[in-house]
Amino acid sequence: MGEAKGHVLFFPYPLQGHINPMIQLGKRLSKKGLTVSLIIASNIHREPYTSEDYSITVHTIHDGFFPHEHPHAKIKDPPRFNESTARSLTDFISRQKLSGNPPKALIYDPFMPFALDVAKDLGLYVVAYFTQPWLASLIYYHINEGTYDVPDDRHEDPILASFPGFPLLSQNDLPSFACEKGSYPLIFKVVVSQFSNLRRADCILCNTFDQLEPKVVKWMDGQWPVKNIGPVVPSKFLDNRLPEDKDYELGDSKTEPDESVLSWLANKPAKSVVYVAFGTLVALSEKQMKETAMAIKQTGYSFLWSARDSERSKLPSGFVEEAMEKDIGLVAKWVPQLEVLAHDSIGCFVTHCGWNSTLEALCLGVPLVGMPQWTDQPTNAKFIEDVWKIGVRVKTDEEGFVSKEEITRCVVEVMEGEKGKVMRKNVENLKVLAREAISEGGSSDKKIDEFVAMMT
Ligand code: UDX
Repeated sequence: MGEAKGHVLFFPYPLQGHINPMIQLGKRLSKKGLTVSLIIASNIHREPYTSEDYSITVHTIHDGFFPHEHPHAKIKDPPRFNESTARSLTDFISRQKLSGNPPKALIYDPFMPFALDVAKDLGLYVVAYFTQPWLASLIYYHINEGTYDVPDDRHEDPILASFPGFPLLSQNDLPSFACEKGSYPLIFKVVVSQFSNLRRADCILCNTFDQLEPKVVKWMDGQWPVKNIGPVVPSKFLDNRLPEDKDYELGDSKTEPDESVLSWLANKPAKSVVYVAFGTLVALSEKQMKETAMAIKQTGYSFLWSARDSERSKLPSGFVEEAMEKDIGLVAKWVPQLEVLAHDSIGCFVTHCGWNSTLEALCLGVPLVGMPQWTDQPTNAKFIEDVWKIGVRVKTDEEGFVSKEEITRCVVEVMEGEKGKVMRKNVENLKVLAREAISEGGSSDKKIDEFVAMMT
């Protein structure tokens, strides 16, 4: 590690899918010599701790909710969260400014635009860090600008939405918050407000890479001070310049994944296993979960399924036991997803198309079957299928339900169809581009270096 340079504060929106990309960039900055503090807004106080591998210190600040309230209560009450957290953040930064190593910059998640105002008022250099791709974020931008009008009824005449740098998008391809007026009023406000004060940001980062969204990047060029610094997937699975960076954790905070799945995979032939996982938040309906299980079983391929407790209980009765007895499948609560995707036995990934999962699959060269549910996932799925051509997206009925025949068709197509072979080749190409971007001298690495230089 080099001589200590500037001190930067990271302030992620407190959901795992948003925290992970912040941690990952923090690790890279700390290895390039910056002092990094990570601030987590929470209803539970924890003493600060410092991760030895990266010398990143994690602090909690109070988010205004009581300890007995659900950690996700903040999503349902943004005004309370914003007001209380803004106060806590002001106190925290003010105290840090009196310390021996006062912070120079705040890197915040634009889901919390108040953080920009707080940090500006306190004289910091302010950096907005988008952890979701431009694909979704720019649609929110156009809504904020008034250059895209969300329809009153998503079932109105088929509308194709047009955005600079994008293919034409149907209603099904738009982020769920942008499909129909009034459908998610609270979250809609959060995603659109990301742009309410963005012009005041000194710098804008995004967890993507120039070669992945070139048309969009070209359109943005010159308009905003943007640096694409991704993919910030753990280094072991990309450039390996931080060999100890194997997962998204920071020492003490480890969520234990079920490592035994790797020995189960070890006996499987190359590209023979279907991996199924829907991230940290998505909850399929019981009917959809059962239908998906029947489809996966019906394909006849071996499968590994990551299903959180709340989801596992929706699987058909006897499904888990039968799979184990016949050694055709394994259902685990939480798996080391990167190790799994990197495993030679994995043939395809049935996913909700969360941005982290999408980046991980493309960094590891695994083709996808997209079953997007909400937020940015439908737009990610559109790009997966039609732009990058690294997977297929299941077709739904009017109610958004996917039949087992359709899931089976998609899985078989990716595993052994002619199109599947092309997808595999395309995803291998993207894997190379992703590695180049983050490796020494690559486009994202250069942007990270430029940022470090500014903080020095
Ligand atoms: C949320 C939104 O759903 C998503 O659309 C947005 O892009 C980011 O925030 P999440 O649902 O958590 O994300 O999905 P995703 O972004 O894919 O992240 C899931 C993370 O959990 C991945 O990093 C994945 O590797 C990890 N994971 C998942 C495991 O490590 N083990 C598992 O068993 C399942």
